[in-house]
Amino acid sequence: MAKSLNLHKKPFRYFIRKYASFFGWGMAFVFLTNFFDVITPVLLKQAIDQIREKAEVESLATTCFLFFVCLAFVALFRYFWRIYFGRFHHSVADDLRNQIFEKLTELSPSFFQKKTVGQIMSLVTNDVNSFRMAIGPGILILMDGIILSALILPIMFYMNWQWTLQVLILLPFVPFVIQRVEKLVFERFKIQQDRYADMSGRAQEIISGVRVIKGFAQEKNQLGFFNQKSKTYENACNDVAFVDSAFHPIMEFTVAFGSVILLYVASPDVMRAEVTIGTMVAFQQFIQRMAWPMTAIGAGITFIQQGRASFKRIDDLLLEEPEVVDSGEKVIKDFESLEFHNLSFTYPGAKQEALKEVSFKINRGETLGLVGPVGAGKSTLIQVLTRLWQTPSNMVSVNGIPLNDISLISLRDLIAYVPQDAFLFSNTVADNIRFSLKDHITDESIKEMARSVRIHKEIEKVPGGYHAMLGERGVNLSGGQKQRLTIARALIKESPIIILDDSLSAVDSRTEKNIVEKIKEVSEGPEGYEPTIIIVSHRLATLKHADRIVVINDGKIDAIGSHDELVKQSETYKRLDQLQSGELPGGQGTQETPL
Ligand SMILES: Nc1ncnc2c1ncn2[C@@H]1O[C@H](COP(=O)(O)OP(=O)(O)O)[C@@H](O)[C@H]1O
Ligand SMILES: [Mg+2]
Repeated sequence: MAKSLNLHKKPFRYFIRKYASFFGWGMAFVFLTNFFDVITPVLLKQAIDQIREKAEVESLATTCFLFFVCLAFVALFRYFWRIYFGRFHHSVADDLRNQIFEKLTELSPSFFQKKTVGQIMSLVTNDVNSFRMAIGPGILILMDGIILSALILPIMFYMNWQWTLQVLILLPFVPFVIQRVEKLVFERFKIQQDRYADMSGRAQEIISGVRVIKGFAQEKNQLGFFNQKSKTYENACNDVAFVDSAFHPIMEFTVAFGSVILLYVASPDVMRAEVTIGTMVAFQQFIQRMAWPMTAIGAGITFIQQGRASFKRIDDLLLEEPEVVDSGEKVIKDFESLEFHNLSFTYPGAKQEALKEVSFKINRGETLGLVGPVGAGKSTLIQVLTRLWQTPSNMVSVNGIPLNDISLISLRDLIAYVPQDAFLFSNTVADNIRFSLKDHITDESIKEMARSVRIHKEIEKVPGGYHAMLGERGVNLSGGQKQRLTIARALIKESPIIILDDSLSAVDSRTEKNIVEKIKEVSEGPEGYEPTIIIVSHRLATLKHADRIVVINDGKIDAIGSHDELVKQSETYKRLDQLQSGELPGGQGTQETPL
C-alpha cells in the first residue's frame, strides 16, 4: 500500500525508483556524453593554437588523436543513453498501462456508464504517452541541459569571463520563450488529437454503417460531413505547425546573435594578440553548444508540466473505487438455496426504484421462469444477483449467507450467466466456448456442448469450423447463432446455477424449447449435476415446463406459481397466454408477442 501511495503523490519518483537501473545507466551515459562533448572545443582551440605556433607535427597528431577519441566516445555514449532511456520510459508506459487496465477490470459497470470508450482510450493512449514523454525525454533533456551548461559555463568563464557575459546576453531569455512556445504547442496539439479522434470516429461510423447509408442514399451527405471533419483536423495541424516551427529559429537565432557579438567583442582582443584565435573558435563552439541546454530546459519543463497534467487524469482513474466491493470471504461449496428478502434496488443516480420489495426463494435443482414486460426489471434482478451492481445488504442470500459476505470469485463460480446481448470475442469459435476454462476443455466436449445448444451443424458449415475466427475480418454469425454460442460458453462451466437472460430471443421458439429441454436432460442424466436454472423469456411456451414461474411487472412481483396456477391467478399472465396461443385478436401464435 505504501508503494501505491507513493505512486499517487510522487509519480516521477515512484517510477524512477522502480526502474532505477535503466534510469541510472541512462543518466550516467548522458553525463559521459556531455563530458566528452565539452572537451572537443578545448581540443580544437589547442589544435588551432598549435598551428599558429607552428608546433611539432607529433603534438598536432596527439591532439587529433585525442579529438578522435572524444568524438568516438560521444557517439558511443550517446547511443547507449538513448538505449537505456528508451528502455526506462517504455517500461514506465507499459507499467502504467497495465495498472490502468487492471483498474478497469476491477471497476463496476456503473463506472463505464459514466465514461465513453473514447475517453478511456484517450487515457490509455494519449495520457500515458504524455506522461512517458515527461518522465523520459522531458527529464532527460532537462538534465542534459543542466549538465551541459554546468560543464560549459565554468570553462567559458575561465577562458574569458568578459566575453562570456557579453555573448551569452540573450541566453537566459531562451528557456522562457521556449517554454511559452512549447506550452502553446501542447495546447494546440491536444486540440489536434481531439479533432483526429473526431474524424476517425466519424470514419469508423461511416464504414460500420455503410449499409444504412447506402440504403438511405446518404453517400453525398456523409462524404460532405467527413470532408468537413477532415478539414478541421487539417486546420488544427496547421495551428500546431504555426507555433512548433518557431522552436528551431529561436535556437538558431540565439546562436547567430551570440556569434555576431563574439565577432564584435573578441576580434579586437585577438588582433591585439591578447587572446589567441583558438580561444575565439572554441568560444564560437561553446555558444553553439549553449543554445541547446537553454532550449532543452524550457522544453523539458513544459514536457514535465504536461506529463503531470496527464498523470492527474490517469491517477483519478487509478483512485476510482469499484462500486461493487469484494469484501466477502465466505466460499460456497454446495449450493442449496437462493433467496430474495424484500429486495428493493435503485440504479445509481436514478429517481425510481427498478425493483420493489421482491421476495422469493429458489431451491437446488429447481427450474424457475421469469416473465414480464420490457423494462419490468428482469435483467436488473439478475444483475443484482450476480453483483454486477452493488447489492443492498441483507436482501439477497445464498444458503442463508448474505450475498455481500460471499467472495466475488466464489459467487461467480456458482453462477453461469448468459447476458441479454450476446457478446463474442475476436477469437475462434472453440476459444469463445472454452472462454472461462482455458485449456481444461477438450475439443470433443466443446462439440458435445455445441450439439446440446443445437449449433454444431451450423458451425461445421462455416469455413474453418471450430477454428474459424469470429468478429472483425472473421466470420460473422447471425444473432441466434451468437446467442447459442454464448449459452454454450456458460453451460460448459457446469456451474450450480444457470441463468439465461432472454438469451434465446433470436432463435425460433421450437429451437428455444429444444435447447431448454436439452439443458435439463443433460444435467439430469446419470452424470448430471442437477443445476438450478433461471430462464428469463418472453415466450410462455418455453417456460411452461418450469417448476415455477415468477411474473414481474414494474419492478414488483405480480404472481408466482406453475403455469396452470398462474393462468388462474395472474391477469397479466393469462392475457399473455391467450395472446401467444392466438386466442386473442392480435395474437401471433406462439411467436414473438411482447407483453
Ligand atoms: N444501467 C441502468 N441504469 C439506470 N437504469 C437502468 C439501467 N438498466 C436498466 N435500467 C432501468 O431499470 C428498469 C428495468 O430494466 P431491465 O431490468 O433492463 O428490464 P427488463 O430486463 O425486464 O426488460 C428500466 O426502467 C430501465 O430503464
Ligand atoms: Mg432484460
